[in-house]
Amino acid sequence: MASFSESRAPRAARAGGLAAVPSQAEPIGGIVATDDARLDTGFAEFDRVLGGGLVTGSVTLIGGDPGIGKSTLLLQCAGALSGRVPVLYATGEESVRQVAERARRLVMGSAALSLIAETSVERILEESVRCGARVLVIDSIQTMSVGEVEAVPGAVTQLRESTARLVRHAKDTGASVLLIGHVTREGVIAGPRVLEHMVDTVLYFESDSGSRFRVIRAVKNRFGAVNEIGVFAMEEQGLREVRNPSAIFLSRGSEPVPGSAVTVAREGTRQMLIEVQSLVDPSQAANPRRVAVGFDSNRVALLLAVLHRHAGIALHSHDVFVNVVGGVQLAETAADLAVVAAIASSMSGTSLPRDLVAFGELGLTGEIRPVPYGEERLREAAKHGFRRAIVPRANAPRQEIPGIDVVAVNRLPAALAALG
Ligand code: TYD
Ligand code: MG
Repeated sequence: MASFSESRAPRAARAGGLAAVPSQAEPIGGIVATDDARLDTGFAEFDRVLGGGLVTGSVTLIGGDPGIGKSTLLLQCAGALSGRVPVLYATGEESVRQVAERARRLVMGSAALSLIAETSVERILEESVRCGARVLVIDSIQTMSVGEVEAVPGAVTQLRESTARLVRHAKDTGASVLLIGHVTREGVIAGPRVLEHMVDTVLYFESDSGSRFRVIRAVKNRFGAVNEIGVFAMEEQGLREVRNPSAIFLSRGSEPVPGSAVTVAREGTRQMLIEVQSLVDPSQAANPRRVAVGFDSNRVALLLAVLHRHAGIALHSHDVFVNVVGGVQLAETAADLAVVAAIASSMSGTSLPRDLVAFGELGLTGEIRPVPYGEERLREAAKHGFRRAIVPRANAPRQEIPGIDVVAVNRLPAALAALG
């Protein structure tokens, strides 16, 4: 709140398109730079993804599949935030009674949390001003409309104009606005993607089908890094944050099976143990399939070429599937070694030891290249009971790490030999 200063208004008015007061140029020395004030959302996992809490006067879009838990998350946040500032939760999807019932179940009753069932943006903004809301939740942007625009809610022009009004409100009053947007897989209706450039922060709430774990990630953040993720579990009593998610993506049964390998990934500022699975199967097709979920398929094709050239494992007559367990996206090349280990294991039908982890980037000439934060990754693996690690030579720790034997390799054949 404290951060809202008059010097912002001209920029905001320009962004909104309709300048009520003509902008005036001012000398840079006279403009006070204020640190953006931030509000604690009640979830440390959510605060971290936001870059350290909800910035006052910011607009955040939270996208995700219907039913993933967007309303639940924001209702719980609204409850926590209302302990400090007035909050208005506007729903165009449910009745006030339905939301209130859920709120009573999920959050402590708070006098400063107001609800309104309304789809007119003008009405919601009037009410927001009337109750002095410092945080405004819009559930969902697809149900909202502006009277002057002749289009049905959810149409691109409505989405844009509704969002523009809400953005202007945030910039003019310093209230933080949280927008919920349903993402339709088929893209039948223009999804919230058309709004991404209008808002400060874009978050996606995702999950592996059937899993109770939810991952929230930033794909755009004017106020923080975009590689942070927050992990939650959906429970009877709403969402619970998972403060130490390191090993929840290890869903392995008790018996070792071929085609499974574990890597230590780094997401944002922390390490996580993640299982990579592969299935290699003789192909009936002229063009064998290379399908990867949670990993770049082009990179799988590249790794297969390296496996062939430098380790003599030929898979051109096999379909190769790669899956990262838990709905996680592995964007790091550090996962290469685990991906080739899983593929080689499935191909040979030999399972890898259960207490083995592997990380390292694979180069085109078959060399194993170092990755950042090698020691941190090894310590995380040791903490979770892994006893052996295959790592790039340059990532060999200078001092022994208690509990884990490190096999440092610099070429693919040596790495594959160390798997057994
Ligand atoms: P919801 O927040 O309504 O999803 P969205 O707004 O993204 O469409 O969450 C819907 C699902 O979450 C619903 O299928 C039931 C489940 N759920 C729980 O398991 N526990 C709870 O406490 C709540 C509120 C919902
Ligand atoms: Mg909802």
